Amino acid sequence: MKGIHIVATGRAVPKKIVTNDDMSKIVDTSHEWIVTRTGICQRHICEEETCTTLAVEAAQKALKEAIQKEGIKPEDIKVVVVASVTSEYSFPSTACLVQQALGLSQDTMSFDIGAACSGFLYGLEVCRSLLMAQEGKYALLIGSEQLSRVLDFTERSSCILFGDGAGAAVLRLDDSLYAHRAWSDGNKDVLYCKGAGQEEMKLRMEGQDVFKFAVRVLKQGLDTILTDGEITIEDVDYVVCHQANKRIIEHVMKKYPGHEQKFYMNIENYANTSGASIPIALDEMREEGLLQEGMKIVLVGFGAGLTWSSALITI
Ligand code: ACO
Repeated sequence: MKGIHIVATGRAVPKKIVTNDDMSKIVDTSHEWIVTRTGICQRHICEEETCTTLAVEAAQKALKEAIQKEGIKPEDIKVVVVASVTSEYSFPSTACLVQQALGLSQDTMSFDIGAACSGFLYGLEVCRSLLMAQEGKYALLIGSEQLSRVLDFTERSSCILFGDGAGAAVLRLDDSLYAHRAWSDGNKDVLYCKGAGQEEMKLRMEGQDVFKFAVRVLKQGLDTILTDGEITIEDVDYVVCHQANKRIIEHVMKKYPGHEQKFYMNIENYANTSGASIPIALDEMREEGLLQEGMKIVLVGFGAGLTWSSALITI
Protein backbone atom coordinates (compact mmCIF):
# COMPACT_ATOMS: atom_id res chain seq x y z
CA MET A 1 0.00 0.00 0.00
CA LYS A 2 1.29 3.46 -0.88
CA GLY A 3 1.76 5.94 1.95
CA ILE A 4 1.70 9.69 2.39
CA HIS A 5 4.71 11.82 3.25
CA ILE A 6 4.34 15.40 4.46
CA VAL A 7 6.74 17.43 2.31
CA ALA A 8 6.01 20.92 3.67
CA THR A 9 3.59 22.74 5.95
CA GLY A 10 2.30 26.26 6.53
CA ARG A 11 -0.08 28.02 8.89
CA ALA A 12 -1.98 31.30 9.07
CA VAL A 13 -3.87 32.90 11.94
CA PRO A 14 -5.74 36.19 12.22
CA LYS A 15 -3.84 39.15 13.62
CA LYS A 16 -6.29 39.79 16.43
CA ILE A 17 -5.54 37.93 19.66
CA VAL A 18 -8.37 37.58 22.17
CA THR A 19 -7.16 36.65 25.64
CA ASN A 20 -9.18 34.98 28.36
CA ASP A 21 -9.38 38.35 30.12
CA ASP A 22 -10.88 39.76 26.91
CA MET A 23 -13.43 36.91 26.94
CA SER A 24 -14.36 37.79 30.51
CA LYS A 25 -15.58 41.17 29.21
CA ILE A 26 -17.96 39.36 26.82
CA VAL A 27 -19.31 36.54 29.02
CA ASP A 28 -19.31 35.77 32.74
CA THR A 29 -16.00 33.88 32.90
CA SER A 30 -12.39 34.29 34.04
CA HIS A 31 -8.87 33.45 32.91
CA GLU A 32 -8.60 31.14 35.91
CA TRP A 33 -11.71 29.12 34.94
CA ILE A 34 -10.79 28.81 31.26
CA VAL A 35 -7.15 27.88 31.75
CA THR A 36 -7.91 25.35 34.49
CA ARG A 37 -10.75 23.62 32.62
CA THR A 38 -9.25 23.76 29.09
CA GLY A 39 -5.59 24.87 29.04
CA ILE A 40 -6.55 27.75 26.72
CA CYS A 41 -4.95 31.18 27.29
CA GLN A 42 -5.81 32.97 24.06
CA ARG A 43 -7.31 32.51 20.60
CA HIS A 44 -7.01 34.35 17.25
CA ILE A 45 -10.23 35.81 15.88
CA CYS A 46 -10.84 37.08 12.32
CA GLU A 47 -11.49 40.74 11.62
CA GLU A 48 -10.51 41.33 7.98
CA GLU A 49 -9.41 37.72 7.42
CA THR A 50 -11.76 34.97 6.31
CA CYS A 51 -11.68 31.21 6.10
CA THR A 52 -10.59 31.69 2.47
CA THR A 53 -7.75 34.16 3.08
CA LEU A 54 -6.39 32.03 5.93
CA ALA A 55 -6.49 28.91 3.73
CA VAL A 56 -4.71 30.72 0.89
CA GLU A 57 -1.99 32.12 3.18
CA ALA A 58 -1.28 28.77 4.84
CA ALA A 59 -1.25 27.00 1.45
CA GLN A 60 1.09 29.57 -0.09
CA LYS A 61 3.60 29.00 2.71
CA ALA A 62 3.43 25.22 2.36
CA LEU A 63 3.72 25.34 -1.43
CA LYS A 64 6.66 27.76 -1.30
CA GLU A 65 8.53 25.42 1.02
CA ALA A 66 7.68 22.38 -1.13
CA ILE A 67 9.00 24.16 -4.24
CA GLN A 68 12.24 25.02 -2.43
CA LYS A 69 12.67 21.53 -0.98
CA GLU A 70 11.66 19.26 -3.83
CA GLY A 71 11.57 21.55 -6.83
CA ILE A 72 7.94 20.68 -7.44
CA LYS A 73 6.00 22.78 -9.91
CA PRO A 74 2.50 24.10 -9.13
CA GLU A 75 1.13 21.89 -11.91
CA ASP A 76 2.41 18.82 -10.02
CA ILE A 77 -0.38 19.38 -7.46
CA LYS A 78 -3.17 17.09 -8.66
CA VAL A 79 -5.59 17.41 -5.74
CA VAL A 80 -6.58 20.32 -3.46
CA VAL A 81 -8.74 19.44 -0.47
CA VAL A 82 -9.90 21.92 2.17
CA ALA A 83 -11.30 20.50 5.40
CA SER A 84 -13.67 23.08 6.84
CA VAL A 85 -17.06 23.50 8.47
CA THR A 86 -16.97 27.30 8.27
CA SER A 87 -16.30 28.05 4.60
CA GLU A 88 -16.87 31.61 3.46
CA TYR A 89 -19.10 30.39 0.64
CA SER A 90 -21.45 27.42 0.45
CA PHE A 91 -20.19 27.37 -3.12
CA PRO A 92 -17.72 27.69 -4.73
CA SER A 93 -15.63 25.54 -2.44
CA THR A 94 -12.73 27.10 -0.56
CA ALA A 95 -10.47 24.61 -2.36
CA CYS A 96 -11.39 26.10 -5.76
CA LEU A 97 -10.60 29.58 -4.45
CA VAL A 98 -7.23 28.36 -3.16
CA GLN A 99 -6.49 26.68 -6.49
CA GLN A 100 -7.14 29.94 -8.30
CA ALA A 101 -5.22 32.12 -5.82
CA LEU A 102 -2.16 29.87 -6.03
CA GLY A 103 -2.23 29.69 -9.81
CA LEU A 104 -2.54 25.92 -9.85
CA SER A 105 -3.38 24.04 -13.01
CA GLN A 106 -7.01 23.62 -14.09
CA ASP A 107 -6.11 19.95 -14.29
CA THR A 108 -6.55 19.80 -10.49
CA MET A 109 -9.42 18.26 -8.58
CA SER A 110 -10.39 20.83 -5.93
CA PHE A 111 -13.13 20.39 -3.35
CA ASP A 112 -13.97 20.76 0.35
CA ILE A 113 -14.79 18.05 2.85
CA GLY A 114 -16.82 18.44 6.03
CA ALA A 115 -15.77 16.09 8.79
CA ALA A 116 -15.50 18.85 11.43
CA CYS A 117 -12.46 18.47 13.67
CA SER A 118 -11.56 15.14 12.01
CA GLY A 119 -11.48 16.86 8.61
CA PHE A 120 -7.71 17.08 8.16
CA LEU A 121 -7.34 13.39 8.99
CA TYR A 122 -10.20 12.36 6.71
CA GLY A 123 -8.54 14.52 4.05
CA LEU A 124 -5.25 12.66 4.36
CA GLU A 125 -6.84 9.44 3.18
CA VAL A 126 -8.98 11.23 0.57
CA CYS A 127 -5.82 12.76 -0.93
CA ARG A 128 -3.89 9.49 -0.79
CA SER A 129 -6.68 7.54 -2.48
CA LEU A 130 -7.15 10.14 -5.21
CA LEU A 131 -3.44 10.37 -5.93
CA MET A 132 -3.34 6.60 -6.28
CA ALA A 133 -6.40 6.57 -8.54
CA GLN A 134 -5.09 9.39 -10.72
CA GLU A 135 -1.45 8.35 -10.67
CA GLY A 136 -0.54 11.76 -9.29
CA LYS A 137 2.28 12.48 -6.89
CA TYR A 138 1.41 15.62 -4.93
CA ALA A 139 -1.68 16.95 -3.15
CA LEU A 140 -2.40 20.06 -1.12
CA LEU A 141 -4.42 19.47 2.04
CA ILE A 142 -5.64 22.40 4.13
CA GLY A 143 -7.67 22.73 7.33
CA SER A 144 -9.17 26.21 7.59
CA GLU A 145 -11.76 27.48 10.04
CA GLN A 146 -13.47 30.72 10.95
CA LEU A 147 -15.37 29.31 13.89
CA SER A 148 -15.96 32.77 15.34
CA ARG A 149 -18.68 33.14 12.66
CA VAL A 150 -20.77 30.41 14.28
CA LEU A 151 -20.04 30.97 17.97
CA ASP A 152 -22.77 32.14 20.30
CA PHE A 153 -20.99 34.84 22.29
CA THR A 154 -23.70 34.72 24.96
CA GLU A 155 -22.98 31.04 25.71
CA ARG A 156 -19.98 30.92 28.03
CA SER A 157 -19.35 27.17 28.04
CA SER A 158 -18.74 27.01 24.27
CA CYS A 159 -17.61 30.44 23.01
CA ILE A 160 -14.43 30.37 25.13
CA LEU A 161 -13.25 27.13 23.53
CA PHE A 162 -12.69 28.04 19.88
CA GLY A 163 -10.44 30.13 17.64
CA ASP A 164 -9.84 30.83 13.94
CA GLY A 165 -6.90 29.64 11.86
CA ALA A 166 -5.60 27.50 9.04
CA GLY A 167 -2.90 24.90 8.50
CA ALA A 168 -1.75 23.38 5.22
CA ALA A 169 0.41 20.51 4.05
CA VAL A 170 1.85 19.48 0.71
CA LEU A 171 1.58 15.69 0.55
CA ARG A 172 3.59 13.27 -1.57
CA LEU A 173 2.45 9.78 -2.43
CA ASP A 174 5.32 7.38 -1.79
CA ASP A 175 6.28 4.12 -0.13
CA SER A 176 6.59 5.46 3.42
CA LEU A 177 4.99 3.70 6.37
CA TYR A 178 1.31 4.62 6.54
CA ALA A 179 -1.82 3.46 8.28
CA HIS A 180 -5.19 5.17 8.44
CA ARG A 181 -8.59 4.67 10.07
CA ALA A 182 -11.78 6.73 10.12
CA TRP A 183 -15.08 6.28 11.93
CA SER A 184 -18.42 8.08 12.30
CA ASP A 185 -21.64 7.40 14.20
CA GLY A 186 -24.14 10.01 12.96
CA ASN A 187 -24.81 11.68 16.31
CA LYS A 188 -26.25 15.17 15.72
CA ASP A 189 -27.35 15.93 19.27
CA VAL A 190 -24.17 16.61 21.27
CA LEU A 191 -22.31 18.79 18.76
CA TYR A 192 -23.89 20.55 15.78
CA CYS A 193 -24.43 23.75 13.85
CA LYS A 194 -27.38 24.16 11.52
CA GLY A 195 -26.73 24.96 7.86
CA ALA A 196 -27.31 27.81 5.40
CA GLY A 197 -30.77 29.36 5.45
CA GLN A 198 -31.72 27.95 8.84
CA GLU A 199 -32.98 30.20 11.58
CA GLU A 200 -30.00 29.77 13.87
CA MET A 201 -26.50 29.04 12.58
CA LYS A 202 -24.69 28.66 15.90
CA LEU A 203 -22.47 25.97 17.35
CA ARG A 204 -24.27 23.96 20.02
CA MET A 205 -22.52 21.49 22.26
CA GLU A 206 -23.11 19.23 25.24
CA GLY A 207 -19.63 19.71 26.71
CA GLN A 208 -19.51 16.78 29.09
CA ASP A 209 -20.84 14.31 26.52
CA VAL A 210 -18.24 15.48 24.01
CA PHE A 211 -15.53 15.21 26.67
CA LYS A 212 -16.41 11.58 27.44
CA PHE A 213 -16.62 10.72 23.73
CA ALA A 214 -13.24 12.39 23.08
CA VAL A 215 -11.26 10.55 25.76
CA ARG A 216 -12.76 7.23 24.65
CA VAL A 217 -12.10 7.59 20.93
CA LEU A 218 -8.64 9.17 21.25
CA LYS A 219 -7.45 6.06 23.10
CA GLN A 220 -9.28 3.73 20.71
CA GLY A 221 -7.98 5.56 17.62
CA LEU A 222 -4.42 5.55 18.91
CA ASP A 223 -4.43 1.87 19.93
CA THR A 224 -6.01 0.79 16.63
CA ILE A 225 -3.46 2.60 14.50
CA LEU A 226 -0.56 1.19 16.53
CA THR A 227 -1.94 -2.31 15.94
CA ASP A 228 -2.49 -1.64 12.22
CA GLY A 229 1.04 -0.25 11.87
CA GLU A 230 2.43 -3.23 13.84
CA ILE A 231 4.26 -0.89 16.20
CA THR A 232 3.95 0.10 19.86
CA ILE A 233 3.92 3.48 21.57
CA GLU A 234 7.67 2.97 22.18
CA ASP A 235 8.26 3.25 18.41
CA VAL A 236 6.33 6.53 18.09
CA ASP A 237 8.14 9.87 18.22
CA TYR A 238 5.09 12.13 18.62
CA VAL A 239 1.35 11.88 19.05
CA VAL A 240 -0.56 14.89 17.73
CA CYS A 241 -4.16 14.92 18.93
CA HIS A 242 -6.84 17.35 17.84
CA GLN A 243 -6.38 20.31 20.21
CA ALA A 244 -9.82 20.63 21.83
CA ASN A 245 -9.03 20.64 25.53
CA LYS A 246 -5.76 20.12 27.43
CA ARG A 247 -7.58 17.96 29.98
CA ILE A 248 -8.82 15.61 27.23
CA ILE A 249 -5.26 15.07 25.98
CA GLU A 250 -3.88 14.72 29.54
CA HIS A 251 -6.53 12.12 30.30
CA VAL A 252 -5.39 10.05 27.32
CA MET A 253 -1.64 10.48 27.77
CA LYS A 254 -1.85 9.11 31.31
CA LYS A 255 -2.84 5.78 29.73
CA TYR A 256 0.66 5.62 28.20
CA PRO A 257 2.93 6.03 31.25
CA GLY A 258 6.49 7.03 30.40
CA HIS A 259 5.41 8.48 27.05
CA GLU A 260 3.56 11.60 28.19
CA GLN A 261 6.18 13.89 26.61
CA LYS A 262 5.30 12.53 23.15
CA PHE A 263 1.87 14.19 23.24
CA TYR A 264 2.27 17.60 21.61
CA MET A 265 0.09 20.47 22.83
CA ASN A 266 -0.28 24.06 21.67
CA ILE A 267 -3.90 24.72 22.62
CA GLU A 268 -2.90 27.52 24.98
CA ASN A 269 -2.19 29.86 22.04
CA TYR A 270 -4.92 28.93 19.55
CA ALA A 271 -7.85 27.33 21.43
CA ASN A 272 -9.75 24.76 19.34
CA THR A 273 -9.41 25.54 15.63
CA SER A 274 -11.31 22.41 14.53
CA GLY A 275 -10.00 21.04 11.21
CA ALA A 276 -7.01 23.39 11.37
CA SER A 277 -5.67 22.28 14.75
CA ILE A 278 -3.58 19.28 13.62
CA PRO A 279 -1.87 20.97 10.63
CA ILE A 280 -1.20 24.09 12.73
CA ALA A 281 0.42 21.84 15.35
CA LEU A 282 2.52 20.05 12.70
CA ASP A 283 3.69 23.36 11.29
CA GLU A 284 4.68 24.66 14.73
CA MET A 285 6.51 21.42 15.50
CA ARG A 286 8.50 21.73 12.28
CA GLU A 287 9.28 25.38 13.07
CA GLU A 288 10.42 24.41 16.57
CA GLY A 289 12.76 21.82 15.03
CA LEU A 290 10.98 18.93 16.75
CA LEU A 291 10.42 16.92 13.57
CA GLN A 292 13.24 15.08 11.86
CA GLU A 293 13.18 12.98 8.71
CA GLY A 294 12.05 9.43 9.36
CA MET A 295 10.21 10.14 12.61
CA LYS A 296 6.98 8.22 13.20
CA ILE A 297 4.03 10.41 14.07
CA VAL A 298 0.53 9.36 15.10
CA LEU A 299 -2.29 11.82 14.42
CA VAL A 300 -5.66 11.43 16.15
CA GLY A 301 -8.74 13.59 15.63
CA PHE A 302 -12.37 13.68 16.71
CA GLY A 303 -15.30 16.00 16.20
CA ALA A 304 -18.85 16.58 15.11
CA GLY A 305 -20.45 13.75 13.19
CA LEU A 306 -19.53 12.30 15.52
CA THR A 307 -16.38 11.50 13.58
CA TRP A 308 -12.99 10.29 14.64
CA SER A 309 -9.88 9.21 12.80
CA SER A 310 -6.25 8.26 13.32
CA ALA A 311 -3.20 7.96 11.09
CA LEU A 312 0.39 6.80 11.30
CA ILE A 313 2.79 8.71 9.07
CA THR A 314 6.51 9.24 8.77
CA ILE A 315 7.97 12.69 8.45
N1 ACO B 1 -16.67 30.34 32.78
C1 ACO B 1 -17.08 30.12 34.04
N2 ACO B 1 -17.95 29.15 34.37
C2 ACO B 1 -18.39 28.36 33.38
C3 ACO B 1 -18.00 28.53 32.05
C4 ACO B 1 -17.12 29.57 31.76
N3 ACO B 1 -16.67 29.82 30.52
N4 ACO B 1 -18.62 27.59 31.30
C5 ACO B 1 -19.36 26.84 32.12
N5 ACO B 1 -19.23 27.31 33.39
C6 ACO B 1 -19.86 26.82 34.60
C7 ACO B 1 -21.13 26.08 34.35
O1 ACO B 1 -22.21 26.98 34.24
C8 ACO B 1 -21.24 25.23 35.58
O2 ACO B 1 -21.70 26.00 36.64
P1 ACO B 1 -22.70 25.38 37.74
O3 ACO B 1 -21.91 24.26 38.38
O4 ACO B 1 -22.97 26.54 38.62
O5 ACO B 1 -23.88 24.88 36.96
C9 ACO B 1 -19.78 24.87 35.88
O6 ACO B 1 -18.98 25.87 35.19
C10 ACO B 1 -19.35 23.51 35.42
O7 ACO B 1 -19.80 23.32 34.10
P2 ACO B 1 -19.45 22.02 33.31
O8 ACO B 1 -20.10 22.07 31.95
O9 ACO B 1 -19.71 20.82 34.17
O10 ACO B 1 -17.86 22.18 33.15
P3 ACO B 1 -16.83 21.14 32.61
O11 ACO B 1 -15.80 20.87 33.62
O12 ACO B 1 -17.49 19.97 31.93
O13 ACO B 1 -16.10 21.97 31.47
C11 ACO B 1 -16.06 22.18 29.10
C12 ACO B 1 -16.85 22.45 30.37
C13 ACO B 1 -14.76 22.94 29.17
C14 ACO B 1 -16.89 22.67 27.92
C15 ACO B 1 -15.78 20.66 28.99
O14 ACO B 1 -16.97 19.94 29.16
C16 ACO B 1 -15.16 20.29 27.67
O15 ACO B 1 -14.06 20.68 27.34
N6 ACO B 1 -15.86 19.47 26.89
C17 ACO B 1 -15.36 19.06 25.58
C18 ACO B 1 -15.59 20.16 24.64
C19 ACO B 1 -14.93 19.93 23.33
O16 ACO B 1 -13.85 19.38 23.24
N7 ACO B 1 -15.60 20.37 22.28
C20 ACO B 1 -15.16 20.35 20.97
C21 ACO B 1 -14.79 18.97 20.48
S1 ACO B 1 -15.08 18.63 18.86
C22 ACO B 1 -14.73 19.96 18.08
O17 ACO B 1 -13.61 20.34 18.21
C23 ACO B 1 -15.76 20.68 17.29
